[in-house]
Amino acid sequence: MDLTTKYMGLSLSNPVVAGASPLSKELDKVKALAEAGAGAIVMHSIFEEQLAQEALALNYYIEQGAESFAESLSHFPPMEAYKVGPELYLENIAAARKAADVPIIASLNGVSLGGWIDYAGKIQQAGADALELNIYLIPTNRKVSGTKIEKAYLDIVKAVRAAVSIPLAVKLSPFFSAPVNMARKLKAAGADALVLFNRFYQPDIDVEKLEVAPRLVLSDSDESRLPMRWIAILFGRVRLSLAATSGVHTGEDAAKLILAGADAVQVVSALLRDGIGQLTKIRDDMAELLAAKGYRSIRKARGVMSQKNCPEPAVFERANYIETLQSYPQSPAAV
Ligand SMILES: Cc1cc2nc3c(=O)[nH]c(=O)nc-3n(C[C@H](O)[C@H](O)[C@H](O)COP(=O)(O)O)c2cc1C
Repeated sequence: MDLTTKYMGLSLSNPVVAGASPLSKELDKVKALAEAGAGAIVMHSIFEEQLAQEALALNYYIEQGAESFAESLSHFPPMEAYKVGPELYLENIAAARKAADVPIIASLNGVSLGGWIDYAGKIQQAGADALELNIYLIPTNRKVSGTKIEKAYLDIVKAVRAAVSIPLAVKLSPFFSAPVNMARKLKAAGADALVLFNRFYQPDIDVEKLEVAPRLVLSDSDESRLPMRWIAILFGRVRLSLAATSGVHTGEDAAKLILAGADAVQVVSALLRDGIGQLTKIRDDMAELLAAKGYRSIRKARGVMSQKNCPEPAVFERANYIETLQSYPQSPAAV
């Protein structure tokens, strides 16, 4: 079966991509991901806060004596927490590019218009084949409307687009009022691809200690259904490449997302939980499943079950919600 796919203009040997994760912090793991057959590798993110912190520090040393330096940094995580600083990040891109014969996609993570956007140009110079822009925004300001939030996203994408000529993917949250409309606006702002969706890591409350603490839980296969729905809806409606992220653990998960319309599927939790070798299994099982259904290429299988092409387009909409609720069997325990 021909597994090749085009993702935002990049030619991938297959659609299974190693998503942004700590695995890309080590060169031997980058090599292992390429050897396991990753179609591309997304580097872990470099954060706006990290770049701002560097710039602040530099400013401090140049100007000597901004007393507020430590205070101004107090809302940032300590620099050591990032493990890889801005210079090392660029070196890691160049090293990954050299060591692995697959496209290397850098990841830049930010929420505001600021000096950090210039760093996108450095990422390009370092040799990244493409850039994934992760806009991880938690809107809490009561005075800021959804329209303003959308504009902020678009302004960031435009600014990054102006800074680089390499392909640009935007990793988005699922929380938009009108996702298809937003996707089209992101395309107009300069995005080449969407990565759906950013998985939000919810803080948890420790009742014993009365503390709010981060608690990272890896995904499971069911979580792939949120990107699956929206990829199926977006397929054929926007001229953007579509990558799925969240809940790809098996070849079947990957096959479903391709059938929904994904150009690429990103895998992280499965690799962290079961090892890098899981990537090969996902790729091979996906290929076997699609071949068994008579598809001779990813291109032929892609989007066959999208909303546009599937026999019952309503299953992706409200009708399906009502039907799903009605179909839940009454359990004897509940009566
Ligand atoms: C430990 C860990 C670190 C991650 N680091 C990043 C990151 O640096 N940048 C980013 O955009 N996503 C990051 N992610 C999110 C993943 O790229 C991915 O979108 C998410 O885990 C959902 O995919 P999965 O279900 O395959 O895990 C991270 C996820 C995990 C579990």
